[in-house]
Amino acid sequence: MRKPVLAGNWKMHKTAAETSSFVEAFAPMVAHAKHAEIVICPTFVNLPAAIGSARSTNVEIGAQDVFWLKEGAYTGEISAPSLTAIGCRWVIIGHSERRQYFGETDETVFKKTIAALDAGLKPIVCVGERLEERESGATETVCGGQFTGGIAGLTLEQFAKIVIAYEPVWAIGTGKTATPEIASDTHRFVRGEIRKRFGAEAAGSCRILYGGSVKPDNIKGLMAQPEIDGALVGGASLDPASFAAIVNF
Ligand code: PGA
Repeated sequence: MRKPVLAGNWKMHKTAAETSSFVEAFAPMVAHAKHAEIVICPTFVNLPAAIGSARSTNVEIGAQDVFWLKEGAYTGEISAPSLTAIGCRWVIIGHSERRQYFGETDETVFKKTIAALDAGLKPIVCVGERLEERESGATETVCGGQFTGGIAGLTLEQFAKIVIAYEPVWAIGTGKTATPEIASDTHRFVRGEIRKRFGAEAAGSCRILYGGSVKPDNIKGLMAQPEIDGALVGGASLDPASFAAIVNF
């Protein structure tokens, strides 16, 4: 049985005070949720506020990115050990916005994933195709390439510790959710790639989350698909009641 992960990606939203009040309102709403792992990923500067407010709750905190080296002259970057040192447990790697606006490549995704694992962080590694790629029938080529370049080089032991998020770029922040069937098809493809590279057991136990306009009113249909093991939620994770409704689907 794969335990679902419901993760909120807050992107560049909320102040420290807003972060704390969110967690204080949200944690009691999901306190009885034993069926899933619950993760919130605020901005770097709001990690301490989130971690402080989530202490003694079942909500874990993650970062939205990480650098691949432990320390050095890399102005503006954040290392994996500095994240674990403050109690951060998860990290999103290779989000399409990082790929699109900040030059993230499969190679940097791979390096960041290894750095995160070395520091004991749980990586949520993102793959997903853009609209023109879907329309030209290239979804599997694109997601397969991202898997090969960003994930396939891990050892089996490393791979066992990551979570994958399939996020079709055309569904992010657009209100256009992939239907449960469309999402499921790509999840099945990614799981097939995992099976080829890491074997049936690894494929059977890897959690693949769906992301892209997940809302309280579509989470049930998505989670009804055996291939979908949770969600990476942007906009709808910014409101406590809305994200709690998603967690308690
Ligand atoms: P969205 O974002 O739920 O606002 O579409 C999802 C994501 O980018 O992770």
